[in-house]
Amino acid sequence: MFIDSHAHIQLSQFNQDREAVLTRAEKAAVTNILVIGFDMETSLGAVELAEQHTHIYATVGMHPHDAKDLTPDVLKTFRELAAHPKVVALGEMGLDYYRDLSPRPVQKTAFEEQLNLAEETQLPIVIHNRDAYMDILPILEARNGRIRGVLHCFTGDVELMHRGLAIGFHIGIGGIVTYKNAADVQAVARAVPEDRLLIETDCPWLAPQFRRGKRNEPAYVRAVAEKIAELRDTSIETIGKITTKNFETLFKSA
Ligand code: NI
Repeated sequence: MFIDSHAHIQLSQFNQDREAVLTRAEKAAVTNILVIGFDMETSLGAVELAEQHTHIYATVGMHPHDAKDLTPDVLKTFRELAAHPKVVALGEMGLDYYRDLSPRPVQKTAFEEQLNLAEETQLPIVIHNRDAYMDILPILEARNGRIRGVLHCFTGDVELMHRGLAIGFHIGIGGIVTYKNAADVQAVARAVPEDRLLIETDCPWLAPQFRRGKRNEPAYVRAVAEKIAELRDTSIETIGKITTKNFETLFKSA
């Protein structure tokens, strides 16, 4: 059993064959999929998919790229959607200093507003980072004990991982762990405690090595589990079991 804790199968890249993608996931023993919103449209799309499929869950949130779009009206809609039984987390939210598509102060305001909503609703959060842990971690540390969630697609080193663990966060490992030049992520995949590990695809992006550059999909989360099993010298079944348990602890207790 495997759970893809971060997928964007509501996107148009899946419009032609979404049912076939879901069937392949089922055949690969991917029992649950968390569909992640990153703006208003994709958040509504995630909720819609979750309403149609019992094994799909949704998040609602505003990505730092579109931080300027987090108007009071959008925030109000997110607050209403947060009460939906299939919405199990807020995000993805965070900071992105790699592409800098929104000014950094605007990104920070949108991030803080969504963190306030997380405290208010008691929902866990999904954190997006690109080159911004130096600002993200202090923001999260300031709210230690009041928020919980996952550092999605973790690409930091073991030291940064420990800072995330210290404030109770889970570590999401995706397809990058299968790449040859991913020493940091592989070291983290070895070191992360058993009760904090989550696996994800971030599909349609970041396909594992055997499909690198092509469209990713939830079934390929198995390749992530397989690589982590190899790194930790354990079985793929064990990785499936512990990451499923962690997913349920973090997201389904909400
Ligand atoms: Ni994502």
